Amino acid sequence: MYKFPHRNILDADQFSRTDLDFIIQKTKIIQKLFKQGKTFGMLRGRLLASLFFEASTRTRLSFESAMERLGGRVISTVGFQFSSISKGETLYDTMKMVEAYADIAVIRHPVEGSSRIAAGAVRMPVINAGDGAGQHPTQALLDMFTIEVEKGKVEDLTIGFIGDLKYGRTIHSLVKLLRHYNVHIIFISPEELKLPDSYKKDFKDSVLTYEETNDIKAIWDCDVIYVTRIQEERFADHKEYERLKEIYKVNKELILASKKNTTVLHPLPRVTELSTDVDDLPNAAYFRQAEYGVVVRMALLCLLLNVEIHE
Ligand code: NCD
Repeated sequence: MYKFPHRNILDADQFSRTDLDFIIQKTKIIQKLFKQGKTFGMLRGRLLASLFFEASTRTRLSFESAMERLGGRVISTVGFQFSSISKGETLYDTMKMVEAYADIAVIRHPVEGSSRIAAGAVRMPVINAGDGAGQHPTQALLDMFTIEVEKGKVEDLTIGFIGDLKYGRTIHSLVKLLRHYNVHIIFISPEELKLPDSYKKDFKDSVLTYEETNDIKAIWDCDVIYVTRIQEERFADHKEYERLKEIYKVNKELILASKKNTTVLHPLPRVTELSTDVDDLPNAAYFRQAEYGVVVRMALLCLLLNVEIHE
């Protein structure tokens, strides 16, 4: 019998296709249970430490909402200035303390690899909610769940990624999951913001195929497009950001010119890359995507805390 084999969620690399099918299946059950009002006792008595050392609205609230909807409680710290890290405490020491206060931790931190350090310090499960330009694996899981629900499948789709493919950690995570599916990816970006080669190397042993272009019209070939913000905070040279920040704008006219029934995803927040006139199209799925994030995280919290999910 399959048993969820992970203690932590740190990198999208850690998941097999079997894990992904299992997470989707369990999330669908959680969705039903929640609608029936049956989730509120599932994590009663458990505490989540919510440690966000970098800006967040959705991810933090969605984890906290997930925990509360399972009947658990949340303790939290936001930003460096209000935590002892600003007094020079190491992340290792912070985590040692947190372990005494909570049963599971979710951490967002600007330094790539930080969640692995955090997880190495403790025995409780740790979830990476974004480490710099590195990984954001739970966002990738909810993105995949969104594609599954909106399209009825992930296989055999053409998926376009647009925007900051160099620094966007949500893309870096989602492409790792998509390696397990027979999909075609079109990477649309200016030369300066292409997907790093280290991610492309991984596609060699995968069934996934891909192409790269800087032409936004390539979205007309896509069943799903995943639009992303140019990641201002990751640029070493701000002038470079200023030059590239408005390079693409996806708007209603562009989407309606496509012959395909293109589903539009965006991890949010958006700036200027996705026009608000897209919002009223039935295929604009980004607010539903944020909503699915809660049920996906509910399933993950249960799996990591060894609480069974069944109807
Ligand atoms: C993303 C992130 O933090 O990486 N947001 C999110 O978690 N929904 C995307 C972004 O900030 O552009």
